[in-house]
Amino acid sequence: MNPFKNAPVETMLINPFERIGKNAMLITAKKDNQVNTMTASWGGFGTMWNKNVAFVVVRPQRYTKEFIDAATHFSLSFFGKGFAKELAYCGKASGRDSDKIAKCNFTLGEDKNAPYIEQAELIFVCKKIFAQPYNAESFLDPNIMEMYEKKDFHTLYIAEIECVLQKEKQA
Ligand SMILES: Cc1cc2nc3c(=O)[nH]c(=O)nc-3n(C[C@H](O)[C@H](O)[C@H](O)COP(=O)(O)O)c2cc1C
Repeated sequence: MNPFKNAPVETMLINPFERIGKNAMLITAKKDNQVNTMTASWGGFGTMWNKNVAFVVVRPQRYTKEFIDAATHFSLSFFGKGFAKELAYCGKASGRDSDKIAKCNFTLGEDKNAPYIEQAELIFVCKKIFAQPYNAESFLDPNIMEMYEKKDFHTLYIAEIECVLQKEKQA
């Protein structure tokens, strides 16, 4: 039985500072029938062009970026308690070197072309609508440049939230 129920995005009571910034999420996407996932703690939710959107930022060297770029969709998976080890691992190891999904004993579901992690308690299925690499000239606070010593500027992805899958029983 599918443990997830569709939840209208407008009913979400989600604190992005805690859920994304503090706890982190997994961004998961598919390319040529292969799936990769990575931990992310920068991003947000909001409204853009009259659409409900999520935004994430991904550095060019992330293997997951190749998957996001190849796909029309990606998912954001949020976890309950007990997954700190897996989130740390997926934020350290690269899918270039190991199958992180198998190593974490994760299983995959799929909705609207977006693979997601079934062990999560909350999933956002997102359709990419905008992608743009940050450029040095756009930063108004020079202190932020300290984060880009290698000039490896993130690409910003804005994606329409197509559906939200929520487990009935959350940890
Ligand atoms: C808590 C945490 C948050 C992270 N947030 C981001 C992020 O928002 N954007 C990003 O590009 N990398 C972020 N990373 C780094 C990637 O998750 C990490 O480089 C990962 O190994 C990339 O895996 P991949 O090469 O399989 O894509 C984060 C790592 C951790 C541990």
